[in-house]
Amino acid sequence: MTEPVIRTVELKKYYSGKTKALDGVDLEVNPGEFIAVMGASGSGKSTLLHLIAGLTRPTAGRVTIEGLDPAAMSDNALTRFRRRRIGLVFQRFNLIPHLTAEENITVPLLAEGKSRKDAEKRALELAGELGIAEQLDQRPDTLSGGEQQRVTLARALSLNPAILLADEPTGNLDSLSSQRICEILDRLCRAEKRTILLVTHEPAVAVWSKRLLILKDGRLIADRPTSEFSDAHHLAAAYQRAVEGNAEPAAREDAE
Ligand SMILES: Nc1ncnc2c1ncn2[C@@H]1O[C@H](COP(=O)(O)OP(=O)(O)OP(=O)(O)O)[C@@H](O)[C@H]1O
Ligand SMILES: [Mg+2]
Repeated sequence: MTEPVIRTVELKKYYSGKTKALDGVDLEVNPGEFIAVMGASGSGKSTLLHLIAGLTRPTAGRVTIEGLDPAAMSDNALTRFRRRRIGLVFQRFNLIPHLTAEENITVPLLAEGKSRKDAEKRALELAGELGIAEQLDQRPDTLSGGEQQRVTLARALSLNPAILLADEPTGNLDSLSSQRICEILDRLCRAEKRTILLVTHEPAVAVWSKRLLILKDGRLIADRPTSEFSDAHHLAAAYQRAVEGNAEPAAREDAE
């Protein structure tokens, strides 16, 4: 049996008082899986990604990523591990404001000791794939929301991470650009066996994944292979039924 690349056990994150952002999530992600996470606003999707990436610590329960517990690592070790193994696309873009798009994309490459020439070459290649080659000289505040999003994605992919954690990476994109990104993610997963955990509100994006997770009030209420859905409309209808509490029996029940 292959070891899961990400595992969460009874993972909880409570905020002062009564906000149960995450309320006991058990999850195993196998290498090369492409997973979509859906759920209403406030259901805990970003919290789950942040906990997996070690950006916040759990209130209870445990995360392991490639066998390591981010909560037990030193800040330096965690930063290095993240840079080398994880591509992160935050919901808020976190681009460095005084750097151009190209400079933002090359930050992780230079930090890993690549030459400026190689880093620029890689930035150009990614920008071409993502349709932002014309924007490389612009600073983030002059980029459209969708362009910023693609710069963030380019930065996350710059070091060919084994794991991509992406929080609504297509949230500001038109459907064609969004489809282009889905094709890239699909290829990364199929051809290069990358593991992808993608948060999205869009059924047309989720349908590209192989496995759909649905969060509601900090709990995993569904975990289903997307091969069950003939198309995005079918997936949207199943999602709706799940969150309204009329879920069909889940193919993979989450552990209660
Ligand atoms: N630092 C914080 N302090 C207090 N409450 C928080 C904090 N971070 C998140 N929460 C709360 O935890 C819950 C889950 O938040 P989270 O950001 O994970 O939701 P989400 O599913 O990503 O929503 P969205 O689709 O709007 O991005 C929300 O009710 C939110 O207000
Ligand atoms: Mg969120």
